[in-house]
Amino acid sequence: MATISCGIDFGTTNSSAALVDEHGVRVLDLDPGNDNPKSLPSLLYLARDGEQIVGRSAANVFIERNVDREVIVRQVDLGVHIEGYVGGEGDNDYGNVPRKDSENVREAVRAHAMMEVNSPGRLFQSLKTSLRHKVFKGTEVFGVEYQIEELVAIILRRIKAAIDKAAGQPVDSAVFGRPVRFSKRAEENEVAERRLETAARLAGFNRVSFFYEPVGACVEYAMTTAERQRLMVVDIGGGTFDVCIMEFGGARDAAERLAESRILAVSGVPVAGDAIDREISRVKVFPCLGSRSRYGPSVLPVPQYLFNNMLDWQNLYKLNTEETINWLIAMEVSSNEPDAIRMLRALIQRNYGYPLAREVEAAKKRLSEMDTTTISLHRDDIQLEEPIERVEFAHIIEDMLLDMRTTIEDAETAAQVKPADIDYVLTTGGTSLIPAVRQMLVDRYGEAKLHERDTFTSVAKGLAIVSQFA
Ligand SMILES: Nc1ncnc2c1ncn2[C@@H]1O[C@H](COP(=O)(O)OP(=O)(O)OP(=O)(O)O)[C@@H](O)[C@H]1O
Ligand SMILES: [Mg+2]
Repeated sequence: MATISCGIDFGTTNSSAALVDEHGVRVLDLDPGNDNPKSLPSLLYLARDGEQIVGRSAANVFIERNVDREVIVRQVDLGVHIEGYVGGEGDNDYGNVPRKDSENVREAVRAHAMMEVNSPGRLFQSLKTSLRHKVFKGTEVFGVEYQIEELVAIILRRIKAAIDKAAGQPVDSAVFGRPVRFSKRAEENEVAERRLETAARLAGFNRVSFFYEPVGACVEYAMTTAERQRLMVVDIGGGTFDVCIMEFGGARDAAERLAESRILAVSGVPVAGDAIDREISRVKVFPCLGSRSRYGPSVLPVPQYLFNNMLDWQNLYKLNTEETINWLIAMEVSSNEPDAIRMLRALIQRNYGYPLAREVEAAKKRLSEMDTTTISLHRDDIQLEEPIERVEFAHIIEDMLLDMRTTIEDAETAAQVKPADIDYVLTTGGTSLIPAVRQMLVDRYGEAKLHERDTFTSVAKGLAIVSQFA
């Protein structure tokens, strides 16, 4: 009997898996509740009673149970001492952290954390990004300490269950994808891969190997033809932008074609869909919530740390303290934009951070299809209607497009090729659907060379092909 193995693409936003057995390679259904069942949103909801919900339902349950609900945040003594700064002025640009250059006195202080005491559950998003953060070892959820590896393993267990079911037996060997760079820092890259491996083992995969995600996508395409080719893959997802350049010989047989292939270069940068969403929020949404307003007799600018905190909606609850809310109420009266400040307060108090983040993302996606759209959210005191045009959006992400272009140039330089030396440029990943991103590629390589591969499953399929020979 043929050995059974699989390829798993654990994505920042979506995950997918493909199985290879005597019937060949097939991409599996992972989430019947999702628009595309082959793609499992990498979301995890942990309820207070220990219930674990993964995928599209995690988002639905969070909105049902956690949104439009008064949040009560309390300072909780963590029972440990940490080194702290006392004295010195806070730096508001960085969320009131002490200035590094100020004359602070350091001493051991008792650690406290802001905890949401009445939360029915917590939603985790973009866990893959947290793998690289050395400081994010884990988190306490309703009295239970979860390491980051365990949180990721919960999602991977769900994927493994689907694989085992499709295979009709436990499959313990898997090739996992990894981005070329989890992080710009080398040591964080290592930490992230090690943690992903631990998570895979916790989920029950005993034989785990890693392959670059864009290489997976490249192999997937290369197996559809017997041409001698030099291919470039541009894979742009939620967390990372990855490029690879590979050469394939003329062999038709998969094993031979792989054996003859050569990776000429890989490059990557952790800038993709999530970072784009944050930039849209910063430029288009936050001004509607008063980020540029002024208040009080001295006409002071609203402190930016409020908005820095909101760049990740998962931190929004930390602003819901009595102190901040009272201060926002006072600020509203003396502000030149009282409606905006009222909206900001409603957003924080009623926990609308996630619906807003989803709306920003949905508007971004609409702009891949239409020239103009509106970011809108209407709940209670929140009446947000902000038009955004495709041209303006392209301008907002200009710096990121530059980062992406540099990453492509790095790959060409490392591979010692010019655009004309590349036969096809394959695109995959949700963010590659943005017209400005595509245009950048068209400008460099010409329309005819661009091939769109399956946005959400090409990496997993390629990894599964590789897994036969791992
Ligand atoms: N039509 C679209 N237009 C623009 N962006 C889109 C579109 N569809 C999805 N996206 C974005 O693509 C990203 C998700 O893509 P994908 O599923 O390929 O990422 P991922 O594989 O989970 O992430 P990564 O590979 O970085 O770990 C999200 O940021 C999403 O907002
Ligand atoms: Mg991906």
